[in-house]
Amino acid sequence: MDDRIFDPELGEEEVKREILLRPENFSEYIGQTKIVQNIDVMVESARMRGQSMDHVLLSGPPGLGKTSLAMIISKALGSELHVISGPAIEKKGDLAAILTNLEARDVLFIDEIHRMHISVEEILYSAMEDYRLDIVIGEGAAARTMQIDIAPFTLIGATTRSGLLSNPLRDRFMAHLHFDFYADEELAKIIENNAKKLSLSIEEQARLKMAKCSRGTPRIANRILRRVRDFAVVRNSNTVTMDDVDHSLDMMEIDPNGLDRMDRKILSVIADYYNGGPVGVEALCATLGEDRNTIEDVYEPYLLKEGFLIRTPRGREISDKSRKALGMEIDNLQGSLFNE
Ligand SMILES: Nc1ncnc2c1ncn2[C@@H]1O[C@H](COP(=O)(O)OP(=O)(O)OP(=O)(O)O)[C@@H](O)[C@H]1O
Ligand SMILES: [Mg+2]
Repeated sequence: MDDRIFDPELGEEEVKREILLRPENFSEYIGQTKIVQNIDVMVESARMRGQSMDHVLLSGPPGLGKTSLAMIISKALGSELHVISGPAIEKKGDLAAILTNLEARDVLFIDEIHRMHISVEEILYSAMEDYRLDIVIGEGAAARTMQIDIAPFTLIGATTRSGLLSNPLRDRFMAHLHFDFYADEELAKIIENNAKKLSLSIEEQARLKMAKCSRGTPRIANRILRRVRDFAVVRNSNTVTMDDVDHSLDMMEIDPNGLDRMDRKILSVIADYYNGGPVGVEALCATLGEDRNTIEDVYEPYLLKEGFLIRTPRGREISDKSRKALGMEIDNLQGSLFNE
């Protein structure tokens, strides 16, 4: 089984489990201080004006807290939150129906907004700017534009790739907030808070180790936490030991650098098949048998940030840090690479 710690798509069960560990308010929302400060002022201003909050674009790799933040914002505004996924809206009429049903100050959250169909997206331009829908009726010379007013609402767009957003759409967001990977201490704090929710106690060293292996991502920290809890529960204990953490990381095939099997596979394919690179992303994905979006959105950002991977004009290269990480476990890697 390909036990990835980071599936881009969450299963239904996993979504339900995530809900329990979601931060409920700003005080439970750890890190991303700059973003939270920005949002704080925007929410407060909207409340004092008694009007809708400005539209905001949240961008960054998966699992860093975009959806959670949207939920907290709508709660703080005392507004209703409507959640839709960009690619799931196929027709203009579907989006128009959603927009006309909004009430004043409601929040519309559009996930994966960069994957929205362009003809659907165009509806948003006047909706965001003038709270108005321009609907074209008829064709050719007889075509006429009908205008429908909608309630002043707030659009929160979320994207893993802000670079793929069209300019007209991007320009209509008053604030662009970019999520960074979390520091180990922040992840350790999230683990501590969530351990409490699960009635577990975890010693500090164990928490830090879990944090270090979480790829800077709260969603992964939570996944590790659940695994670790399983080990403690099986021992009939609610105190997590370093042994539980080591066993869990081992089972999840996460190495001491926090890299999972897929990360190592990417690096070792570049090392073995392409002599360390440079290799174009297309060729790399073909060799890996992986979707380009998954590689670029889910895996690369962390590998680049941590300096395992280097992006050059001629393609991707691995760094000495990678070689060191691979060298430490070369047997293991070849096993996973060639036995598939
Ligand atoms: N700042 C935070 N503080 C505490 N927990 C967090 C924070 N950010 C995220 N989490 C945890 O990580 C989980 C995943 O976060 P969330 O679903 O908000 O990420 P996302 O950015 O929307 O991901 P995707 O791009 O995949 O939709 C949440 O359920 C929550 O438990
Ligand atoms: Mg999300």
